[in-house]
Amino acid sequence: MSLLIKNIDGLVQTGDKSVLKICGPDMSKVNTLRNAYLFLKGGKIRSFGSMNDIDNDTEVHNEGPTEVIDASGKYVFPSFCDSHTHLVYAGSRETEFTDKIRGLSYEEIAERGGGIINSAKLLHDTSEEDLYVQSAVRINEIINMGTGAVEIKSGYGLNPDDELKMLRVIRKLKENFPVEVKSTFLGAHAVPPEFRDRREDYVDQVINEMIPVIASEELADYIDVFCDRGFFTMEDTGRILMAGLKYGLRGKIHANELDFNSGGVQTGVRYQALSVDHLERSGQNEIDALSGSETMPTLLPGAAFFLGLPDPPARRMIDSGLPLALASDYNPGSSPSGNMKLIMSLGCVRLRMLPEEVINAVTINSAYAMGISETHGSIAVGKVANVFITREMPSLAFFPYAYGSDLIDTVILKGEVYSKSS
Ligand code: NIG
Ligand code: FE
Repeated sequence: MSLLIKNIDGLVQTGDKSVLKICGPDMSKVNTLRNAYLFLKGGKIRSFGSMNDIDNDTEVHNEGPTEVIDASGKYVFPSFCDSHTHLVYAGSRETEFTDKIRGLSYEEIAERGGGIINSAKLLHDTSEEDLYVQSAVRINEIINMGTGAVEIKSGYGLNPDDELKMLRVIRKLKENFPVEVKSTFLGAHAVPPEFRDRREDYVDQVINEMIPVIASEELADYIDVFCDRGFFTMEDTGRILMAGLKYGLRGKIHANELDFNSGGVQTGVRYQALSVDHLERSGQNEIDALSGSETMPTLLPGAAFFLGLPDPPARRMIDSGLPLALASDYNPGSSPSGNMKLIMSLGCVRLRMLPEEVINAVTINSAYAMGISETHGSIAVGKVANVFITREMPSLAFFPYAYGSDLIDTVILKGEVYSKSS
C-alpha cells in the first residue's frame, strides 16, 4: 500500500531526522515546501519534494503509488503529538464547572472531595470494559482532530488495583488504534482520602507496591507526580522519581501550576525528567533551572484558560533560548478538550507565541516531550507516516487564526487514510 499526496500548497515542518527539538529563536522558523508532493509507503515517509522534481523521484516511479490524493490549495502537517493527557477517565465533571463559574477555586473544589478524588470515585465504580469504551470515544475524537501521537496518564485510580486498571485500558487503546500511545504512571496525582493525614505512607505505597508491579508488567513508559501545594512535596517527588528511574521510568512532572515555590521544575530537572508541565507560576528561577537541561518545558494553555490561571511566561522562556512544547492536558477537571488546533490558537492569543512557534511546539517539541522525536513530529524520510491534510487555506497562519473552524480535511495514520471529512 502506498500513497502519493500531490500539488500540496504547503508541506509543513520538513526537516532532518536528526533534529530532535527546536529551541529559542529557531522556534520562529518552520520549513515549508511550496507546491510539493509527499510519498508514503509501508507506514513510513518514503520521499518528498517539489512538484517540479517529481518526475525525477525514482521512489515514486519505481513503486507506482496505489492511491493518489490531490491537495491543491491545501497544507499538509505532521500529525500533532499531544504529550500530556489524562484521557482515560470515567464520566465527566460539569457540576464542578458550574461551581467554578460561581466562584470556587480549583483547590477549594478539591478540598470538598471534588476534583481528582471525584474522578477516582467514578473510576472505581466503572468496569474496565466501560472505561475502555468511554476512552476509545475520546481517542477517536482527537485522532479526527489531527492528533497522531498521544501520551496518556493514569492517576484517577489512586490505589494499586485501580491504577493498574487504568494502565491496562491505556495498553488496550495502544493495541487497537493506529496512533502512537505512550503511557505514564501518575499514582501520585492526589492523596486518597484514606491516607489523608498519612501522605508519606501513600508515597511509600506508590514506591513499594505500585511501581514494581507496573514495571514488571511493562504497563508504563514514564512516571509523573503532581508536585504542587496541597498535593505532593519536592521531597515526595524526588523519592518517586528516583524509584521510577531504578525501573527505567523517566519523569514527566506536573510542576508550578498552583505555587511559585513548589519546586517542581527544579526537582524535575535534577532527576533528568523528560518534561516539566504546566508552569503557570514560574519565573526566572525556573528558566535558569531549565537552561541547558535536557528537560522540555511544556505549557498547557487549555488548563490555564479553563481554570482562569495566570498564563505561563512563554515569551520570556523562548526569548531566553528555551524550547517549548504545548499539549492539551485533556482531562475532566481542568481541560476537558483534546483539540490541539485550539491549543495552537491559545498559544498564539494568550501566550503571544507566533504561528511558527506554536507549530514547532505541537509537533517536534511535543514529540520530544514524549520521547518520540526520532520517529514523529516532522516530515522527514523514514519517520512514521502520520500526517493530516488541511482544507484549502490562504496561508499557514490562517490555521491558528481561524480558531473555531474545523480545517482538518483528511487524517492519515501509518500511511493510510483514517478519516476524510469532505
Ligand atoms: O493536569 N493538575 C493536576 N492534574 C490535572 C487535573 C486533573 C483533574 O482535575 O482531574 C491537570 O490539570
Ligand atoms: Fe495534567
